[in-house]
Amino acid sequence: MFEKSADKYKDRPRVIVVEHLSKQFGDHVVLDDFNLSVFKEENVVVLGKSGSGKSVLVKCIVSLLKPDLGSIFVLGEDISTLNDEELDALRMKLGFLFQSNALYDSMTVRENLEFPLLRYDKSLQKSEIDARISEALANVGLEHTLNMMPAELSGGMAKRIALARAMILKPEIVFYDEPTAGLDPVTAREIDALILKMKRKYHTSSIIISHDMECVKHTSDRVILLLEGKCYTQGTYQELEQSTDEKVKQFFESEM
Ligand SMILES: Nc1ncnc2c1ncn2[C@@H]1O[C@H](COP(=O)(O)OP(=O)(O)O)[C@@H](O)[C@H]1O
Ligand SMILES: [Mg+2]
Repeated sequence: MFEKSADKYKDRPRVIVVEHLSKQFGDHVVLDDFNLSVFKEENVVVLGKSGSGKSVLVKCIVSLLKPDLGSIFVLGEDISTLNDEELDALRMKLGFLFQSNALYDSMTVRENLEFPLLRYDKSLQKSEIDARISEALANVGLEHTLNMMPAELSGGMAKRIALARAMILKPEIVFYDEPTAGLDPVTAREIDALILKMKRKYHTSSIIISHDMECVKHTSDRVILLLEGKCYTQGTYQELEQSTDEKVKQFFESEM
């Protein structure tokens, strides 16, 4: 297990437990006896080179890919035992911020935010839906975009709307895939701040995939280095930054 300052979450409940996870495609071993726990209200960054298996890991956790070996527990449920209906109920408690944002181009901002509410919570009254949309937009400071189309938004605004949508069902766990990729540094730091704000306000736990080291530094409670299918090392950003291990140092020295 990890030690020192990253330890401060370890007495909390585990919201994700991955044990002995292996996944390969043909002869290509992507994950090889990989282990990870994420604790309540903890932000874990998964750091790794392009193609190292970060997305495969997240897809296994949310049951979009089936592991070859190993077990995965999400919010206490062994996901391999869930039927489609139970998986759907579990996914309601998970939020996703995709690298591409995945906003619906033909829908307004309002309709994009409304979509998960209508799909997953059929009991909501119109007034409640309006209140949830207002709250979500206020969280990201974009109340005025309600009736805009995604094509009218800047890259940073689109990312904020995608974040607002990821949070609209008040998920317990949020997955962020490269949340600052392609953004200018000022906007990227604003997204970092929003990620932290969501955690504080809604007590979410997160897995954040990133190799933007500023983003990693600002948003992580703990960093996992995924290398050759395994957790090569882990610790706080500061602990990893001081590492003398060449494989760890690479991430802090070069622009990835
Ligand atoms: N469905 C798939 N079929 C075959 N190979 C895949 C599939 N998904 C991912 N891979 C391979 O697994 C490796 C890890 O991919 P990925 O997790 O997407 O990397 P990243 O760390 O950049 O997110 C890559 O070599 C990729 O080509
Ligand atoms: Mg990826």
